[in-house]
Amino acid sequence: MLNPRIIRRDFPILAENNIVYLDNAATSQRPIQVIRAIEEFYKTYNANIHRGLYWLSQKASELYEESHRVVAGLINADWREIVFVKNATEAINLAMISWGLKNVGPGDEILVTVMEHHSNILPWYTLAEIRGARIRVVDVDDEGRLDKADLEQKISRRTKLVAITHVSNVTGVVNDVEEITGIAHDHGARILVDAAQSVPHMPVDVKKIGADFICFSGHKMLGPTGIGVLYISEDVIENNEIDPVISGGGAVKQVRISGGRLRVERPRHPWSLEPGTPNIAGAIGLMEAVKYLEKVGLREIMDHERRLTKYFFEKIGEEDLDQYIRIVGPKNPWGRAGIISFTLGEMDPHATAALLDSMGIAVRSGYHCAQPLHERLGFPRGSVRASFYLYNTAWEIDMLVQAIKNIVQKRWSR
Ligand SMILES: Cc1ncc(COP(=O)(O)O)c(C=O)c1O
Repeated sequence: MLNPRIIRRDFPILAENNIVYLDNAATSQRPIQVIRAIEEFYKTYNANIHRGLYWLSQKASELYEESHRVVAGLINADWREIVFVKNATEAINLAMISWGLKNVGPGDEILVTVMEHHSNILPWYTLAEIRGARIRVVDVDDEGRLDKADLEQKISRRTKLVAITHVSNVTGVVNDVEEITGIAHDHGARILVDAAQSVPHMPVDVKKIGADFICFSGHKMLGPTGIGVLYISEDVIENNEIDPVISGGGAVKQVRISGGRLRVERPRHPWSLEPGTPNIAGAIGLMEAVKYLEKVGLREIMDHERRLTKYFFEKIGEEDLDQYIRIVGPKNPWGRAGIISFTLGEMDPHATAALLDSMGIAVRSGYHCAQPLHERLGFPRGSVRASFYLYNTAWEIDMLVQAIKNIVQKRWSR
């Protein structure tokens, strides 16, 4: 069984700061292995990739390419299906620009859900504006779980894309993306799965899910900031559905002027979508992060976070806090990831988070970039979010529950 106390030793920030860090859905901390890999790159073989014959450049190029392979291995993809971008948000925008502009037209429909992060709504909204397409929003039930009947009612032959999150970054609800992919494909639609909150925390197999696009961010999975991933399935690539609209040096094989005309030959994927000098250090750091996650085991990490979530709900019950705490989404620990959003009575979420901070606990407050979901579930002022990762301990959950109890006692036991 995963032992977070041993894992914590690899995270310098956790040793140096007396903090209970429960904002992992926003960004994770980095282990020393990742920090060292980046340091080593800059200290010993920094060079631009794909452009030099000297050994420094060769080594940097090899590791940059190797990183595509390692990331592909994590999600059971082929390395040619992996495009490095800045983050999940850029990945979705790249899918919108390179696929959406080519394949979505007036009258077409794009399905999103109420539980999406704004990053999986706004790019599609922009595309719909540009193309004269229509966005349809699939509802959730009162617990924040996807309303499948509503999805089945709204999807049609007009639907060109279903854009859906794998795990809600507010409620931790896990969508059955394999089943939803089946429904999308039955209607001739493509599907993009926002895996920003799943790939870092559980085994994800793109072949099993069958999705056409998958995106995630390095910084939420022990890697550096500034590196993210867009997976584009071989089927989409082979079907010639991608236009390399973002292009330039590095994303081209030949540029020639012959007979007064410009002739351009593009390289194969993923290089045609990675123009310019990429985030080489980021890719190397991400590769190290993936190796770390694989060594610990994604199933172990998932089980650990589920244990912590269950423990939180048990403690809240034991301490009789149920009457003061309002959970956003399912009121039980089952079938959800290690993300718990809540409010305390009528308290403003920011005020609650500030009080928790004064007790050494780092949580997030506000809408967590998911305002529609908060409004749908009756939390118009947002919520406080605690999110767990592999280095969090049961003791930290005790600290959180104790801190909530202190706030409740001060405020309501007069
Ligand atoms: C579900 C989900 N999608 C997308 C994003 C955007 O990630 P990034 O800010 O790394 O682009 C986040 C970040 O919180 C997220 O939780």
